[in-house]
Amino acid sequence: MSDRLFIFDTTLRDGEQVPGCQLNTVEKIEVAKALQELGVDIIEAGFPISSPGDFESVVEISKAVTWPTICALTRAVQKDIDVAAESLKYAKKGRIHTGIGTSYFHIHHKLNSTPDAILERAVEAVKYAKKYVEDVEFYAEDAGRTENEYLAKVVEAVIKAGATVVNIPDTTGYCLPHEFGEKIKYLVENVNGVHKAVISTHCHNDLGMATANTISGIMNGARQAEVTINGIGERAGNTSLEEVVMILKSRYQVLGIETGVNTKNIYHTSRLVSTLMNMPVQPNKAVVGRNAFAHSSGIHQDGVLKFRENYEIMDPADVGINESSILLTARSGRAALKHRLEIMGFELTKEKLEEVYEQFLKLADKKKDIRDDDIALLVGDATRQEHR
Ligand code: KIV
Ligand code: ZN
Repeated sequence: MSDRLFIFDTTLRDGEQVPGCQLNTVEKIEVAKALQELGVDIIEAGFPISSPGDFESVVEISKAVTWPTICALTRAVQKDIDVAAESLKYAKKGRIHTGIGTSYFHIHHKLNSTPDAILERAVEAVKYAKKYVEDVEFYAEDAGRTENEYLAKVVEAVIKAGATVVNIPDTTGYCLPHEFGEKIKYLVENVNGVHKAVISTHCHNDLGMATANTISGIMNGARQAEVTINGIGERAGNTSLEEVVMILKSRYQVLGIETGVNTKNIYHTSRLVSTLMNMPVQPNKAVVGRNAFAHSSGIHQDGVLKFRENYEIMDPADVGINESSILLTARSGRAALKHRLEIMGFELTKEKLEEVYEQFLKLADKKKDIRDDDIALLVGDATRQEHR
């Protein structure tokens, strides 16, 4: 099995479905270009039948982007597929992503159908899309809650019909990591012809398990991961690109799988998406949150100043963040204060540092945000007292 994972970014499709996050075509092109710079393999650019704006965006992104594959989403409906194919006409490499719900809920309570009829529609949709493009991805919506035996039947049939990628979405974010991993393993071991297609994960984050489920899927044979920048997406969001990529990079010795992502562009892309979509990143968000490389307690600050790896498992420079930050709070120790003073150009004697530190603690108990000018004032006061 290959040790290369394809990164399928769906920020502009599943991510953009979030209320209030809609982008215009110009903004989408800017994000698509940033994703290209980041090194993603596939950009899902939209759902062309859904609106004229989405159609136009897929067309324009196809023109603007040179090397990643451009993907357009459809339902298992011929008209959707016709429109998607039309929107991809300028794509250097185009992919149609078609599919249908396969869980009991979707078959009976959404599609009002039967498992056999759904299987037939799945195969028809793939064959129809194949008339337009070689690269056809099939999604089994709500695969997370689909019984493995039936899912395997569907996957086998769509691969036989020509699907190059089969997406196994945990649409509702329901699976536990070991369950999702076992599902992928079951497909890898039980689907005839599975090696002819790439198995993909597409995990939602309703219970905060999207990244864990994605990694579990990868460990069990999936070689494409569908992700979004900052994990944005429907409800609690999708799997976040930066988490998956940095897990694979940081734990390469254990997992042995690589991506083509230029990780140094992660932070820039995260800021761009957050700003354009007006969607703030939570401060403690893994990898890209404001506090992801910030240390505030005295013990951690002292440790990280002695040797960064004491408290950091990633180098911030690897994700495009200049350096870790040592925040000055009432929990900070002398080491952190001394470090900040040195950056500010002050070199104090041991006694003076002690004096400033005492004043600093009093101030930090009252004031949450200690800035450089506060520190400069404290140093000034201590110096003035000395000259009295
Ligand atoms: O979550 C999901 O099942 C999807 C499919 C349309 C791929 O987004
Ligand atoms: Zn989704």
